Amino acid sequence: MPIFFDSEKKIFKLDTEKSSYIIRIADEGFLTHLYYGAKISDTDVSYVLPNFGNASFSAEIANPVGRSYTLDTLPQEYPCNGTGDFRASALSLRGESGSSATDIRYVSHKICSGKPAIPGLPATYANCESDCDTLEITAEDSLIGARVTLFYSVFPKYDALARSTKVENISGGAVDIERVFSGAYDFSNMNYDFVSLWGAWAKERHVTRHPLAHGTQSIASKRGSSSHNHNPFAALASRNSGEEYGEVFGFSLIYSGNFSMECEVDTFENTRMLVGINPVDFGWHLDSEEAFYAPEVISVFSDEGMGGMSRRFHKLYRHNLCRGPWKTEKRPILVNNWEATYFGFDDDKLVAIAKDAAELGIEMLVMDDGWFGCRNDDHTSLGDWFVNENKLKGGLKPLADRVNALGIKFGIWFEPEMISPDSELYRLHPDWCLHVAGRYKSIGRHQYVIDMSRCDVRDNIFEQMKAILSSANIEYVKWDFNRNLTEAGSLLLDSVHQKEIFHRYVLGVYELLERLLEEFPNLLLEGCSGGGGRFDPGMLYYSPQYWTSDNTDAIDRCLIQWGTTYVYPPSSMSAHVSAVPNHQTGRRTSFKTRGDVAMAGAFGYELDLNKLSEDDRNEVKRQVADYHKYYNVVQNGDYYRLINPFEDQTKCAWAYISEDKSEVLLTMVIIRTERHKQIFVRLTGVDANKKYKDEATGQIYSGDTLINLGLNLTGWYRDWDTVVKHLVEVK
Ligand code: DGJ
Repeated sequence: MPIFFDSEKKIFKLDTEKSSYIIRIADEGFLTHLYYGAKISDTDVSYVLPNFGNASFSAEIANPVGRSYTLDTLPQEYPCNGTGDFRASALSLRGESGSSATDIRYVSHKICSGKPAIPGLPATYANCESDCDTLEITAEDSLIGARVTLFYSVFPKYDALARSTKVENISGGAVDIERVFSGAYDFSNMNYDFVSLWGAWAKERHVTRHPLAHGTQSIASKRGSSSHNHNPFAALASRNSGEEYGEVFGFSLIYSGNFSMECEVDTFENTRMLVGINPVDFGWHLDSEEAFYAPEVISVFSDEGMGGMSRRFHKLYRHNLCRGPWKTEKRPILVNNWEATYFGFDDDKLVAIAKDAAELGIEMLVMDDGWFGCRNDDHTSLGDWFVNENKLKGGLKPLADRVNALGIKFGIWFEPEMISPDSELYRLHPDWCLHVAGRYKSIGRHQYVIDMSRCDVRDNIFEQMKAILSSANIEYVKWDFNRNLTEAGSLLLDSVHQKEIFHRYVLGVYELLERLLEEFPNLLLEGCSGGGGRFDPGMLYYSPQYWTSDNTDAIDRCLIQWGTTYVYPPSSMSAHVSAVPNHQTGRRTSFKTRGDVAMAGAFGYELDLNKLSEDDRNEVKRQVADYHKYYNVVQNGDYYRLINPFEDQTKCAWAYISEDKSEVLLTMVIIRTERHKQIFVRLTGVDANKKYKDEATGQIYSGDTLINLGLNLTGWYRDWDTVVKHLVEVK
């Protein structure tokens, strides 16, 4: 059992293969945090608790056991607001008295195999009993009348800990939740760098890293979605850690809405990390007997730097978060018509693209935006999910049939959460968008956001989607989302519940996604939000692949994909070869370079196949063959980032190494060529005791040579060249 309870000392120890996490129930019932870090043998390490006699102005606890015992310096599992700990709190409840001083004390616990689901929310799950065990600690605020359950599920193989929180109202009256984080993590030093992923449209998930300072450093979203701007991920990386060495704690929130990751360093150099729903613009009202569930946060411990953290996240998310047949089934190589035609297409044009796709070995055609209502540009028709027969004569079925007859699968685009003011749906139901009565409605990309908190609205969108998806053989849906939430109000919520709208919106989206997958269990869903704007673990639970960015430029993609792989497995990272000059950057990279970079994820094309030269067609055939050849190592292998383009601004390199370490696929991209420069790339992840053959040159290397000396990739390159090396084990 990875969870152990010492009933005498009242200590819980949660062990993974390489980490330990220790909790102690203090005499007064406070849930004290003793340790999180590399695996240790001792259970009672209470001697780490601070004894700051001079904690200035800190209040003693209500039942003092000595002058030096104050919550203000005590490391805690789930710190509460207003009762002695002046640092950021995980929980603030307001009871009937109106006060939000909150104080929860241990009541009971239970330990079980596996892991309970979280109602209405995406979360990791156990594939079998041995995958994980769960500890549930129940604590209560007896004055307010609230029961709080802290869930800890331990995934030993991945050195991962899943935490979530449930708050129940047992007061007989009303309780208001003002803040409820999913997890709090106290560390007794500040020797970490704060690492996070920031970005913008066409520039997602760039990496930033800086040393912790006293005070609060945080990332957050209050845009209604996890956003392009910050990803719901942060890491605390030991100051002396790097890509493949040193200790790193990674935190990833399985949630697609407003989030906050707050890291506070106090006077005594203690660090507190809080992860959960952003308390700004949040409130939740609980009537008697009602319960609230906060989303799940995963923390991963790595003693192999950022790379080790990422590989643990990749495996956990691939095996224990993604679901359905596409979790393991080979994904089809797709061609999407967006950059090929934008809105200017009809059925014949799509069939012409499908015809070329069939000749080239591409396996699926995706019809993007513009097939419905009267949509010929982005001003109209969102919400009118019926076929525009001016473009698709006779509807979807004849088109899907013609595409299928070529041996090609067929997929389509939806933006289910949006409504155009110029749409039949809006004319019928102007109150179905998020809005605040009496206030103007801000418009974004000429559209409003549908009130997904409303069941009647979701029913309507679901029925429309169901009718479309049942009308033809549609095997894939790209689920897009192209603006942030403003004037977020719902007509159906009274003033007591109005602050719940952001979270209710996300719950509504999840409910619709779940309903769709229940109705069409074999559907391959690809998430999208103006590229990778809502690329988060919450969405991965429903859509095993996500459109990484609208920026398809191979050089910019090196940076975007580098950051994306901090958390997300390559199999989730959609990457397409597009036309040159690139539509976002104007850069003209070679067809080979575009293919080599796109091969790093869920591979496809985003250009007009009808316009390809003979040379490019041959290159597509070669890339398609490579995709099949390398599929196993890319999708199921371990991912190693080798040359960091944020540091070495002249090149980037990464490698996939099969789990049995018998195969390596390495890609290097020259971002800016440098003359007279030697390039050696060391391959950390290979087996030191194996021998590997470079498939192209026949040269044989020992694993320990590749690790310590590396491959010599020195060459006379031009800007944007790529080098791909395939090494296979020789006995
Ligand atoms: C934004 C997406 O990121 C694009 O790929 C495309 O689907 C457009 N929306 C269509 O409007």
